[in-house]
Amino acid sequence: MDNNNILEIRGLKSYFFTEKGTAPAVDGVDIDIPKGQIVGLVGESGCGKSMTVRSVMGLLKYPGRVVEGSILFDGEEIAGLPENKLRDICGRDISMIFQEPMTSLNPVVKVGKQVRETLLVHNRGISKTEAKAQVIEMFRKVGIPEPEKRYDSYPHQLSGGLRQRVMIAMAMICKPKLLIADEPTTALDVTIEAQILRLMKELRDETGMSVLLITHNLGVVAELCDYVYVMYAGKIVEQAETFELFDHTAHPYTKGLLSSIPRIGQTEERLHTIPGVVPNLLHLPKGCAFCNRCELADKGCKGSSPELIEISPGHMIRCFKNAAGEAVASDASSAGVKAPGTGASDKAASGEAKKSESEAAEAKAEAFDKAGHAGEEGAL
Ligand SMILES: Nc1ncnc2c1ncn2[C@@H]1O[C@H](COP(=O)(O)OP(=O)(O)OP(=O)(O)O)[C@@H](O)[C@H]1O
Ligand code: SF4
Ligand SMILES: [Mg+2]
Repeated sequence: MDNNNILEIRGLKSYFFTEKGTAPAVDGVDIDIPKGQIVGLVGESGCGKSMTVRSVMGLLKYPGRVVEGSILFDGEEIAGLPENKLRDICGRDISMIFQEPMTSLNPVVKVGKQVRETLLVHNRGISKTEAKAQVIEMFRKVGIPEPEKRYDSYPHQLSGGLRQRVMIAMAMICKPKLLIADEPTTALDVTIEAQILRLMKELRDETGMSVLLITHNLGVVAELCDYVYVMYAGKIVEQAETFELFDHTAHPYTKGLLSSIPRIGQTEERLHTIPGVVPNLLHLPKGCAFCNRCELADKGCKGSSPELIEISPGHMIRCFKNAAGEAVASDASSAGVKAPGTGASDKAASGEAKKSESEAAEAKAEAFDKAGHAGEEGAL
C-alpha cells in the first residue's frame, strides 16, 4: 500500500444476485484516497457510486455482496469483514454521511443526545457537559438555527433538511481520518450547501481528514475536489486531477456529463443531453458499456471492452479512442499503460507533474467556470 493513501481499493467487485441474473453493480473498481485530499466520485444515477462506498463500509444488503477485491484502510485489509469487526477496526476513523439520512437517526432519542453519545464513544476523556457544548457548536457550524433548542428535539420534530444537518454534524464531530459523503447536500438549499462544503474543506485543512465525495454537482467537484473519478455502469471510465479533468476531458461519457450542465453566457436554447439511459446491468452491451450512447462508437467498441489506460500523468480513461477520437492502445499490457487506480496517490506523492500553485488555482477557477458556476466563486 502507498503510505500516502488512507484508502486504497483494488479490483473491487460487488454483485447483486437476483432471480433474473447477476448484476455487476461494482465491477473491478480501483480508487485511491490520498491522505488530506478530497476525492470526487461522479456519474449518473445507477452507475454504482453508492454500492462502491457501501462495499467499503460493509453495508451491502442481500442480494448484494462483495465478491472480489482488496480494500486497505490505513494499511489494514477490511474487505469482506463483518460489520461488527469493521466497526472495531475503523469505526472511529471513518464517518459516512448517507444518501438517505432520514433512516439513520434513532426516532426515540433526542438528536443532541445522539450526536453527543457518538462524540463520547470516540473521546472518552471529555465530560458530558463539554460534549454537549461541542455538539451545540457543531450544530451551529452546519447551519442549524437555535442549536440549543434543537439539541432537545426528537428527529420527527425536525424538517428533512435539519435532520440531514444533524447527520452531517454527527459525521464530522469525531474528526474522522476519512469522511465518506454520499450526496450529502442534495436536499439542502444552496446557501446551506455552500456552508457545509466550506466546513468540510476547513476540517480537511485543520485535521488532515480525507474525503470521498459522491455528488451529481460538477460545480461542487470543480470547487472542492483534488482528484475525480467518473463512474459508468459499475466501472471507472475516467480519472484525473480536477483541473486536468475539466481542461482535458477525454472520455465521451465525461464530455457528455460536462456539456449537459448550464453555463453562464450560454446561448443555445436547449441543453445537451446524453442520448439513452444507463444500461440495465443484467443486459450490458457486449463491448464498451457506453457504446449504445456514444457518438464515437464503431464496430471495435461493440466487440470488446476497453481497459483503463493512462493518457497523461495521473489521467486515465477507459476508451479505445483519445479526446480527438483517434484510436489509442486498449490492452492494459501495452507499453506505456499503467496499472489503474494509482493516479491520485502518484500525483500526491511525486508532485513531479504538479503545476505551480497559481497555475493550479487558475486552472481550478477555469474548471469551476466551465462547470457553470461562474460568478459564484465566493460561495464556498
Ligand atoms: N437491491 C438491489 N437488487 C439488484 N440490483 C441492485 C440493488 N440495489 C442496487 N442495485 C444495482 O446497483 C446499481 C448501482 O446502484 P447505486 O445505488 O450504487 O447507484 P448510484 O450510482 O449511487 O446512483 P444514485 O446517483 O441514484 O444514487 C443499480 O443500477 C442497480 O442495478
Ligand atoms: S470505447 Fe468506443 S463506445 Fe466506448 S466510450 Fe470509447 S469511443 Fe465510445
Ligand atoms: Mg447513490
